[in-house]
Amino acid sequence: MLLQPNGKLWTDTDGKDMQAHGGHMLFADGMYYLYGENRLDNAYVSCYRSRDLVNWEFRGNVLTADSKTEAIRTRTELRLKRGDGGKVNIERPKVLYCEKTGKYMMWAHYENGVNYRDARICIASCDTPDGDFTYHGSFNPYGNMSRDCTLFKDDDGAVYWLCASRDNADLHIYLLSDDMLNVRKHVNTLFQGEFREAPAMFKKDGRYYLLSSYCTGWAPNQGKWAVGDTIDGLFSELEDFGDETTFGSQPTFVWPVDVHGRTEFVYVGDRWNYHYYADGEEHLSPPEHMKAYYCKSSFVILPIRFDGERPYIEYAEAFDTDAFDR
Ligand code: GAL
Repeated sequence: MLLQPNGKLWTDTDGKDMQAHGGHMLFADGMYYLYGENRLDNAYVSCYRSRDLVNWEFRGNVLTADSKTEAIRTRTELRLKRGDGGKVNIERPKVLYCEKTGKYMMWAHYENGVNYRDARICIASCDTPDGDFTYHGSFNPYGNMSRDCTLFKDDDGAVYWLCASRDNADLHIYLLSDDMLNVRKHVNTLFQGEFREAPAMFKKDGRYYLLSSYCTGWAPNQGKWAVGDTIDGLFSELEDFGDETTFGSQPTFVWPVDVHGRTEFVYVGDRWNYHYYADGEEHLSPPEHMKAYYCKSSFVILPIRFDGERPYIEYAEAFDTDAFDR
């Protein structure tokens, strides 16, 4: 089955533009849940639901500037609005089910809405995948910066947070606590001074593959991949993934799919509408006239193929769910 076209705005079952950028997908109770950034009105994170990956029902904005807040045992900054009442900036939301607590846990990148200096993790939780999430605040893991990010769940249930740190120069990996309310251990620092952003991890044949972009704001650049035998050990040196603009996209997540009992992997990237957004200014909460353009960002979804251990993608107008059958 063909998904909605690559690089074109996706629409939901009400015919409205889908706002789910920098997001993540979760499979629960026979449904796919797609979470992502929504910068309109008081929203931060949207949630859509689908049975077939083509028809997406809008389930609501699950994190907003007015979400309920609840402190946790470690100290976090609970504010969801700036001092002047404006919005903060919440990017790249990722949601996983927590086995220990039975809650759906959202981890994302928090900024103060004025600049990118806070560079924090923020956390929220909910009893259902598409209900109103309760916000548990933001923090710097062990005092470090945490910007572009992803969550990765290993086969043994351990969950890791991967994030750009030191003004994006290096990429950190942290093991999470079992309740997913904190980081527990810094387990790796990768790519010294390589300025890798938009991390997306998947595990194939017991090895940890990591996709990332370079650091050029909203403009796309050459994607790269690396692989490690262990998540806390040595990773290979960076090699090219996709073309010099990763087909006009930046990684957002890798989606593992079951095809006749074997696992295949799908690259999901954001094609930011940067022509409108990148005017040389930092627009953390975009002005009204730019919001519409930012929100016209789309997806690029392609099957990941392998040449030996080298993952690669080839451009296609749309992703076909049967792609791996041929
Ligand atoms: C990108 C990053 C996006 C957003 C943007 C802001 O590099 O991947 O998530 O933070 O910068 O300029």
